[in-house]
Amino acid sequence: MTSPSTPTSSAVDRPVRIALIGSGRIGQVHALGVHRSEGAALQVVADPFIAGAESLVARFGGRATADALAAITADDVDAVVVASPTSTHVDLIAACLDAGKPVLCEKPIDLDIARVDGLRERAAQASVPVALGFNRRFDPHFAELHRRVQAGEIGPLEQLTITSRDPAPAPEDYIRASGGIFRDMTIHDFDTARWFVPDVVAVTAVGLRQFSDVTARHDDYDGAVVTLVGAGGQSVSITNSRHCAAGYDQRLEATGPLGTLTVGNATDTLVRSSTGASGDSSAPFQTFFLERYSQAYSAELEAFLSAVRGGPMTSPGFEDGRAALVLADAAGASAREGRTVRVDLSA
Ligand SMILES: NC(=O)c1ccc[n+]([C@@H]2O[C@H](COP(=O)([O-])OP(=O)(O)OC[C@H]3O[C@@H](n4cnc5c(N)ncnc54)[C@H](O)[C@@H]3O)[C@@H](O)[C@H]2O)c1
Repeated sequence: MTSPSTPTSSAVDRPVRIALIGSGRIGQVHALGVHRSEGAALQVVADPFIAGAESLVARFGGRATADALAAITADDVDAVVVASPTSTHVDLIAACLDAGKPVLCEKPIDLDIARVDGLRERAAQASVPVALGFNRRFDPHFAELHRRVQAGEIGPLEQLTITSRDPAPAPEDYIRASGGIFRDMTIHDFDTARWFVPDVVAVTAVGLRQFSDVTARHDDYDGAVVTLVGAGGQSVSITNSRHCAAGYDQRLEATGPLGTLTVGNATDTLVRSSTGASGDSSAPFQTFFLERYSQAYSAELEAFLSAVRGGPMTSPGFEDGRAALVLADAAGASAREGRTVRVDLSA
C-alpha cells in the first residue's frame, strides 16, 4: 500500500516478461500463477539448483539459469518475482532497483532489521514498484471483510481477532533457519493487523512451548498469543500455533459498535452431511497455504502486474514489510522480557 512508485513504462501492451528467482515451494506457486495469467509470461527462472529451474521451464516455458543477477538484468525481462530464501531478498531487491526492474518479493524482507533499514531509503526513492508478498491481503474473503469494515458496516473498528494455526510443525531444518515464530509465521498476521490498523503503537506477546521439542531446542516457540494496540485504541489479538488437528486454521473477526464480521475456515466443498453419528458436518479445513491461498496468490500477482503496467500500487510495499518485521522483533522482545513493547513505525 505504501511503496511510492512511478511504474515502469517498459511493458504496456504485451504480457509482462517475468524473471522468477527461486524454484522451491513458493517459486512453483508463482510460476503457475505467471503461466495462468494472461498478462504475464515466464521469461526466465533462476535457481542455483538448476534442476529446479529447468523443471519449471519445462512446464511453463522460458529459459533456466543458475545466475539470478543475469536474470534480473536481462534485456528481455520486464519485472522480477523473488521467491528465493529470505537471506537473499535484500540483495536481490537492491539488484532490481539497480536494474530499474519492478519487483514482487516474498516475505519477510530479511530477518535483520538493520539490513532492511540499509535498503529503506533506496526503496522509498524507487521509481519502480516494490511489492511484498503478504498474500492474506489478496484473499477474496479477507478482502471483502476489509472492504466492509472500511465502508463502515460495523462502525469504527474496535477489535480485530486473527487466528492462524498451521496443520503441523515444519521440519527442523526449516525451524532452525526460520528466524523464529514471530518473524516467520506471525509476520503474515502483523501485516494483516496493519492492513486494518496501520499505526500500531504497542505489542504484548507470550511465546508458548506446549508440544514441540524441535522448536524448544532452537529457542523458539510452538505457539504464540500477541496483542497489538493501535494509535486509535483499537486492539488486535493474534493466536498462532504450529499445529492444529483440524487442519489449516485461518480465521478473521472484526468487531465494532454496530456489529461483527467474520471469515471462517475454508473447506474444499460446500456439501454438508448429517447422519445418525454427526450433524451438519463438512469436509476438513483446506490442508495448508497452497490450497487455502491459491486465489490470493493469483490476485497478488495481478495487482503487481497492474502496477508494472502503470496502474496504482495496491500491493503492500517495502514499508509494510519493514513494519511487519519491527512488530515481529517487538513481539520477540516482549515474549522474552515479559513486558509490553512500545513501537513507533514511522521512525
Ligand atoms: N507468502 C507465502 O505464503 C510464503 C510461503 C512459503 C514461503 N514464503 C517465503 O518464500 C521464500 C522461499 O521459501 P520456500 O519455502 O519457497 O523455500 P524453498 O527452500 O522451498 O525454495 C527456495 C529456492 O530458492 C533457491 N535459491 C537459493 N538461493 C538462491 C539464489 N541466490 N537465487 C535464486 N534461487 C536461490 C533454492 O535452491 C530453492 O530452490 C522465503 O522467504 C519464505 O519465507 C512465503
